[in-house]
Amino acid sequence: MSSSDSFIPPASAKGQQMWGGRFAASPDETMKAINASIDVDQRMWREDIAGSKAHAAMLTATGILTQEDGQAIQAGLDEIGAEIAAGQFPFSIDLEDIHLNIEARLTERIGDAGKRLHTGRSRNDQVATDFRLWVRRALGEADEALLGLMRILVLQAEAHADWIMPGFTHLQTAQPVTLGHHLLAYVEMFQRDRARLASALSHSNESPLGSAALAGTPYPINREQTAAALGFDRPMANSLDGVASRDFAMEALNALSIAAVHLSRLAEEIVLWTSSHFRFARLSDAWSTGSSIMPQKRNPDAAELVRAKAARIASNAQCLMMIVKALPLTYAKDLQDDKAMTFESFDAFMLSVGSMAGMMQSITFNRDAMRQAATFGYSTATDLADWLVRVLNMPFREAHHVTGAVVKAAEAAGIAELCDVPLATFQAIEPRIDASVIALLSVEASVAARDSYGGTAPKQVLEQVKRLRHALQLDA
Ligand code: ARG
Repeated sequence: MSSSDSFIPPASAKGQQMWGGRFAASPDETMKAINASIDVDQRMWREDIAGSKAHAAMLTATGILTQEDGQAIQAGLDEIGAEIAAGQFPFSIDLEDIHLNIEARLTERIGDAGKRLHTGRSRNDQVATDFRLWVRRALGEADEALLGLMRILVLQAEAHADWIMPGFTHLQTAQPVTLGHHLLAYVEMFQRDRARLASALSHSNESPLGSAALAGTPYPINREQTAAALGFDRPMANSLDGVASRDFAMEALNALSIAAVHLSRLAEEIVLWTSSHFRFARLSDAWSTGSSIMPQKRNPDAAELVRAKAARIASNAQCLMMIVKALPLTYAKDLQDDKAMTFESFDAFMLSVGSMAGMMQSITFNRDAMRQAATFGYSTATDLADWLVRVLNMPFREAHHVTGAVVKAAEAAGIAELCDVPLATFQAIEPRIDASVIALLSVEASVAARDSYGGTAPKQVLEQVKRLRHALQLDA
């Protein structure tokens, strides 16, 4: 064996490290503290047991271990799993990490057979395997959660396909849009996020087990068998890559970061929409918080925290990349610090998606306030310019100028909506304008006119809802 890590000590006497055969003195307390990861990686106990069971089954099938030892190991690992699940496992910082904690306990329970489990593997391939299994499961859960949120958004979009709201650029009223259209924009983003999660998942789903410390192993192991038993697509083809690479986790955290940034944009809209200045929406009681001093307040705390979580998730992705940056092959202990931020990111992400789903499910919208805001700032001015181009064949720049003059006149007359400006005022500026244009300048007519593919017209929104209902299996 090329590393002390693969060395099985004769005994794990109290105070003696599992790898302590060549050491006379115990580690310094601070050394132990910086070196131990059990507080963090105990979360991978299920994966560690699954990995060990697959490894032991393969060692038995290949004749590297006897059937008898193999059976003792399988039973012992199952018992340890039950013990951990019941909260009765004596985790010890002296045993550093989840791998050594479980292995020592196994030996305690079944004796010498337990000491044979580590044959042909190392903690280096063991931890890479556990971590990949953990990330794989977490990616699946994140994907499910996003799908759930998307379904809620599609149903809300359908229910509000023709509710009019202002579309903004620069957070200034730009053109009227429909709420359904606005909500479906997020569905599109989340759909791409799911594709990124799927890519991370496919790159996570390869088995490093059998890479051993770094170079492979002289035992006649069967890596296909362990890979298949653990549901991996294939064994990784290079043992150095197997123990040293963490790009699967980097990809996962970066994919999560982008999705979290998308969530934060929707969260920010909730914060704006529920403010007393916008009054577009109201969060349900279950998703509002009160103020300890101002009894009238309904605060969107969850949405604000979703914004904050996006910052943590994105920084964690950077943190992981910096840990791996410039790390020579293969394993170095730096890589032990990859898990805390990964776990934190997934935790924060699940909370964020769950919160957005809860808020979006029970939010109510204020149709009048949204419609009224959509009329602010002469939001249908483009419709007038378009009419001048289409019907009078006016060059667009000129139409833009004429429309500007109409807006100016409306403003001077204190008229809020272009559809309320008297025909005579239009004609004083451009005599060829007739009554037919006025009907086109309401916010309803404006959104209905934007009927191009992907446009905001209620008809287009409902087309997209139909497609998404099918794609997201909402009808099933
Ligand atoms: N706890 C370690 C980690 O998470 C396991 C691998 C230890 N390997 C070693 N060569 N010391 O990375």
